[in-house]
Amino acid sequence: MNSNPVAIVTGGARGIGEAAVRKFSELGYAVAVLDVNRVLGEALAQELQAHGKPAAFYACDVADAVSLDQLAAEIEKKMGSASVLVTSAALIPNTESIMEMDLEAHDRMWRVNYHGTVHACRSFGRQMIAAKGGGSIVTLGSINSVLPLPLPAYNPGKAAIARLTQLLASELGRHGIRVNSVAPTYVMTPQLQARIDAGQRDLAKMMQSHALDFLPTPADIADAMAFLCSPSARAVTGILLPVDSGWMASATYMTYAGGVPWDA
Ligand SMILES: NC(=O)c1ccc[n+]([C@@H]2O[C@H](COP(=O)([O-])OP(=O)(O)OC[C@H]3O[C@@H](n4cnc5c(N)ncnc54)[C@H](O)[C@@H]3O)[C@@H](O)[C@H]2O)c1
Repeated sequence: MNSNPVAIVTGGARGIGEAAVRKFSELGYAVAVLDVNRVLGEALAQELQAHGKPAAFYACDVADAVSLDQLAAEIEKKMGSASVLVTSAALIPNTESIMEMDLEAHDRMWRVNYHGTVHACRSFGRQMIAAKGGGSIVTLGSINSVLPLPLPAYNPGKAAIARLTQLLASELGRHGIRVNSVAPTYVMTPQLQARIDAGQRDLAKMMQSHALDFLPTPADIADAMAFLCSPSARAVTGILLPVDSGWMASATYMTYAGGVPWDA
């Protein structure tokens, strides 16, 4: 069996999850890439293997609790017990009205984003408890975790994940398992660029509400995850760590009716 510590990344085939896969692989973990996207997931695992890094792709729909449990057992047999879990799998919507939204799509988003996070934390959390080696879980929050934005399933789902993270931290702390969340602002993934190009996100508007004049990259988010899973964060659990170019500090500040104290 593989002797490297094992990191599991749901939604690891692309975007922020892919950056997490690359980061934990760089740090010496054997990485399991769990995703519905077989083409990208397999290509990523094969690329890492070609560089001599232990990695494997597992097709997985995080909304399905039973198959996720079975997969956790299969991965444990093949790679060993999980030390790290990152729950990045999610569906990302565009602006919607609650009065007019499609309820099927609403429910599916909850099943993937919120329930999928619960399922992964249960399947691999139980594994970490049984292995008695501690562990570290990072859930994916967002600026949506803290303030309302017009995304009726996604926004309250991210708030719920922040609370879930605190509950899990409280429950798993006595097993030496830490559970934290990262809260990115808009992250410059190829998918965000595509939404900007399609007119679904306004880049100028985005930049008005940040303290810094750049948006984080997926690698910036993965660096924060690596910190949270490292011994340097041994006393950190149950937090929501903004990686947001100052959005939480500045979003309301920038809207003050008296203006800002510098020339716009
Ligand atoms: N990109 C951003 O601006 C941003 C900002 C804040 C938070 N986030 C959060 O970060 C996480 C990753 O976002 P991203 O931008 O990398 O998105 P993305 O769409 O690029 O990647 C999401 C991945 O999840 C996979 N996935 C979707 N449904 C799945 C399912 N049912 N089971 C398994 N895998 C599934 C997709 O195939 C994809 O590979 C999400 O939780 C998102 O909410 C993203």
